[in-house]
Amino acid sequence: MTTGVLFVCLGNICRSPMAEAVFAHTVDSKGMSDQFNIDSAGTAAYHTGEVPDQRSTDTCVKHGVKVKHLARQVTKADFHDFDYILCMDQSNLQDLTKMQPKNIHMFGEFDPQGEKIIADPYYGKVKAFEHNFAQVSRCSEGFLQHLGLGNA
Ligand code: 4NP
Repeated sequence: MTTGVLFVCLGNICRSPMAEAVFAHTVDSKGMSDQFNIDSAGTAAYHTGEVPDQRSTDTCVKHGVKVKHLARQVTKADFHDFDYILCMDQSNLQDLTKMQPKNIHMFGEFDPQGEKIIADPYYGKVKAFEHNFAQVSRCSEGFLQHLGLGNA
């Protein structure tokens, strides 16, 4: 039995592929890859089929995290296929809740430092991506704690 975790943002090129890559890296480093099915998607379809934003990839690579994803839009089937839908901000939460109010959390709920919103970095600078990276790293650990798999 695997736990399905889908990370969702607006475009699926900045925050959610980063969250997917960091969470996958975290579970891999703990030898738990087999226990998870991890993916990401966007509420919008603007960037469908595109590789992640270069700034997102560069930030991950700088921290030793590999990124491999092509953007796709979230579908109704995702609510069935994944146990957890983890989104980044209030706008994502609203859009997802309109589709199907089930299994949705803000990833930031699991931040041990309590920073709930993982803000859209698209029109920001590289610093915004670094900030997102620190957040998704903390949230990955916090989410594993929530699942009872912390400190493994
Ligand atoms: P993401 O960032 O939701 O973290 O992937 C964005 C990417 C693209 C756009 C907005 C946010 N856009 O407007 O194209």
